[in-house]
Amino acid sequence: MQWQFIDETIEAILEKDPAARNRLEVVLCYPGFHAIVAHRIANELWRAGHTTAARFVSHVARVLTGIEIHPGATIGRRFIIDHGMGVVIGETTVIGDDCFIYQGVTLGAGVEARQGEKTRGQKRHPTLGNNVVVGSGAEIQGALRVGDNVRVASGSIVLKDVPDNSIVVGVPGRVLYRDGKRVDDDKVTPDPEAEAIKRLKERIESLERQVQSLLAGGAGAVSEERAETNAQGSDPVDVFLQGAGI
Ligand SMILES: CC(C)(COP(=O)(O)OP(=O)(O)OC[C@H]1O[C@@H](n2cnc3c(N)ncnc32)[C@H](O)[C@@H]1OP(=O)(O)O)[C@@H](O)C(=O)NCCC(=O)NCCS
Repeated sequence: MQWQFIDETIEAILEKDPAARNRLEVVLCYPGFHAIVAHRIANELWRAGHTTAARFVSHVARVLTGIEIHPGATIGRRFIIDHGMGVVIGETTVIGDDCFIYQGVTLGAGVEARQGEKTRGQKRHPTLGNNVVVGSGAEIQGALRVGDNVRVASGSIVLKDVPDNSIVVGVPGRVLYRDGKRVDDDKVTPDPEAEAIKRLKERIESLERQVQSLLAGGAGAVSEERAETNAQGSDPVDVFLQGAGI
């Protein structure tokens, strides 16, 4: 265990967490700190080929802290997990330096998770650049890349690569800001949720017109309305349900 690693991790927590008062408090009372130290030990065992011992250390840390970090995960310097309960970090995750994540974050496998042993040993989990913040409850799924200086809003679900210097929000995650500028939602990053709601509202209005038309005895108008809906091409409701994102 390198003392420099412990020292700089404590310093990072004191610098970034206003609730942290002193070094002893961090050492005694911060499950995120305990989980990171345990991961260091587990990762060294993992890289030495003692995989079951490594998994066991990781498991004990999980029981004690509520934070599950696979020993195979590669984690950079000054990594902070705030609060921590419910955090899951998968085997092939790579995390850069100076990253900060909150409770309930999942850095997990995407579709690869459902393919079982076929994907064993393959990259299945995300890679986070340097200085990334992931808000509470956010999920980043799959072997995608989250760039440097990215902020992922709490509750977001990120399914696609994220460019450097971005803020990502929503389900599915989309870039709201890039390089400090608000992205033009209409042209570059459509909001699938808003589009789906808009289209459903249009359909309800269309159905209301059709009911009124039927009550008035005009069946021809009904088929015209339906044809108009089908002719509009890719349906935002389907796009949203299929998980469109960034
Ligand atoms: C998302 C986040 C990283 C961005 O921080 P920031 O760079 O200071 O930017 P802001 O807070 O101004 O948010 C930027 C935009 O994202 C929006 N946003 C923030 N959080 C959001 C969320 N969870 N879902 C959707 N949009 C969100 C804001 O409304 C704002 O939009 P606007 O510009 O249209 O007003 C920050 O809000 C954050 O750290 N969130 C996580 C906090 C957390 O997990 N706290 C748990 C503590 S226990």
